[in-house]
Amino acid sequence: MTNPDSLYVYYISGTGNARLTSQWIIEVADKKGMKTVVQQIDRLRKTDLPLPEERPLTGFVYPTHGFNAAPLMLKFIAGFPRGDGREIFLANTRAGMKLYKLFTPGLSGLALIVPALILRLKGYRCVGFRPVDLPSNWISVHPGLKTKVIESIIDHWEPKVKKFAEDILAGKRIYRGLYSLPVDLVLIPVAAAYYLAGRFFLAKTFIANSNCNNCGICIEECPTESITMIRGRPYWKMTCESCMRCMNRCPQQAIETAHGMATGMILLASAAYGWLIKTVIEFTGLAPSAWWWKGFSDLLSFGLMVAVAYIVYLIMHYGMHFRAVRIVVRFTSLTAIPGWRRYSYLIRGRKKKNNDS
Ligand SMILES: Cc1cc2nc3c(=O)[nH]c(=O)nc-3n(C[C@H](O)[C@H](O)[C@H](O)COP(=O)(O)O)c2cc1C
Ligand code: SF4
Ligand code: SF4
Repeated sequence: MTNPDSLYVYYISGTGNARLTSQWIIEVADKKGMKTVVQQIDRLRKTDLPLPEERPLTGFVYPTHGFNAAPLMLKFIAGFPRGDGREIFLANTRAGMKLYKLFTPGLSGLALIVPALILRLKGYRCVGFRPVDLPSNWISVHPGLKTKVIESIIDHWEPKVKKFAEDILAGKRIYRGLYSLPVDLVLIPVAAAYYLAGRFFLAKTFIANSNCNNCGICIEECPTESITMIRGRPYWKMTCESCMRCMNRCPQQAIETAHGMATGMILLASAAYGWLIKTVIEFTGLAPSAWWWKGFSDLLSFGLMVAVAYIVYLIMHYGMHFRAVRIVVRFTSLTAIPGWRRYSYLIRGRKKKNNDS
């Protein structure tokens, strides 16, 4: 591997972890006096592409979503120009936690494998990758970590990321995170299910409670332009990638994950699935043991789950105009529990200057 003259970093970040990782890498390159370009890919109007004569190294930094790279980054990478042997590296931020004094890692699944394969097919040479276990931001599933824990995880990871940057910028090849490859491969079906259905279902679990004052910040900030105002209330579209930015950015803490509604959707979809499968067998006389049956029934259940989520969400959106519905949603949403922390720390506290567009 040759020593690069310039560094281009493209990143997407819901709550700041991937941005912080990119900043650390850029800081190292700046110290070496290299030309650096860092671009946040959401809402990007013009991509500054590396010029071949600059001997560029190009990095892609993104969060892990459902054991894969964030879909927006996958789309960006798929649309990236051909590489002609140029060098790239990858860094995926994951759900880091801290249990007493132990820093625990997240799980990559396909988050490094798929982007590396796509870029290989496009003619790039991957000279390094690394998972980065920054504080988990999935506050639909757990309350945001305490500030002290967040600080501690960040302090733990900064030197590791900078060392990785030092090494790849010095021309070394560094491949980290391979220790979990067997588990990552076992997770392929879960990653596929998340990509095909899970993310669309999750998009329909966000709801704005009565604290919403229609300020529009969530609409402005969403990287996928997935929130729209319908009849005076924010409405989440299927294109939402559950990056968690809106929920953490909302000044009123008005955005909830409606766990009660989500449970209702799952129960309804399961009932519809059971009924449909029974009907299909009765009418066609098909044997459920046929080789293609498993694939067909999985796809049917995915489709039903997404369709039910879409319909129930639409009904709930209008239902939220009624006090009784608002009360039920509030009391069945874990995120409405007092003290369920949001994860706004990185967005507000660690914003350093960079040349984002
Ligand atoms: C919808 C969703 C799915 C996630 N899936 C995973 C996962 O599969 N593995 C993992 O380690 N972390 C997972 N996480 C955690 C994030 O990848 C992690 O907190 C990341 O550092 C966030 O980066 P960001 O702040 O740049 O968005 C998930 C988070 C969300 C919101
Ligand atoms: S940011 Fe919060 S208060 Fe503002 S429109 Fe969105 S949900 Fe409502
Ligand atoms: S709607 Fe919210 S969670 Fe979904 S992609 Fe937009 S900012 Fe992220």
